[in-house]
Amino acid sequence: MEFYEVIEKRRTIRDFTGEPVGRETIQRILDAGLKAPTNDHMRDWHFAVIDDPALIQNLIKKIPKKVSEKRVDFIMKVWRLQDECQKKMYADAIPKQYQMLLNAGCLVIPLFKQKKNLLQPKNLSDLNGFASIWCCIENIFLAATAEGCGCTLRIPLGDEKDHVKSILDFPGDYEMPCYIAVGKPAKDGAYYEQNICDVQERIHLNKW
Ligand SMILES: Cc1cc2nc3c(=O)[nH]c(=O)nc-3n(C[C@H](O)[C@H](O)[C@H](O)COP(=O)(O)O)c2cc1C
Repeated sequence: MEFYEVIEKRRTIRDFTGEPVGRETIQRILDAGLKAPTNDHMRDWHFAVIDDPALIQNLIKKIPKKVSEKRVDFIMKVWRLQDECQKKMYADAIPKQYQMLLNAGCLVIPLFKQKKNLLQPKNLSDLNGFASIWCCIENIFLAATAEGCGCTLRIPLGDEKDHVKSILDFPGDYEMPCYIAVGKPAKDGAYYEQNICDVQERIHLNKW
């Protein structure tokens, strides 16, 4: 797939067929992740790859299985969402958090080394490791798209991260930025418009 076609085709996918993704495909996708830019040249990243359905179920069990329409409306009111395009995305995404990770077929937990407390940075550079893993994650998303797969991600909330850590037993100086699910996109999956920005309005030539 041509590069700009991959960029256009990459979308967050939350509906999957459940077909397994081959381990070699996953390896190529994660290898693309390992080619991303990194703050200290070391790419100190690891990936827990889980394709055993029972283990996936156990790892995600802290995520609410069902969220009622009433609750979704309430959350969107609390967040004071105004934009219709944004509201449509959240109305689709909020109730699907558990199912999307369960049904994709492959769950990837990216891990990066974080020596200082991630939540109490003193300098912007204390966040370099965190910033770098997100470059890696975007490479993963683009490679998955080029492979004909779909991806989604979830930021762990509350004690979700501790639960994942208690099962996977990764070292204490590694952090989990998100869950990633990779799978085959369902043909009749939900589609919501991307919020398209006009690049000319966003470029400030020589001065804001
Ligand atoms: C930092 C970050 C956090 C996100 N958190 C979540 C999440 O917790 N759950 C989810 O379903 N999607 C999450 N997303 C996906 C966004 O909802 C999605 O990228 C956005 O709506 C734009 O849609 P697109 O990816 O299809 O262009 C996240 C994306 C980013 C970059």
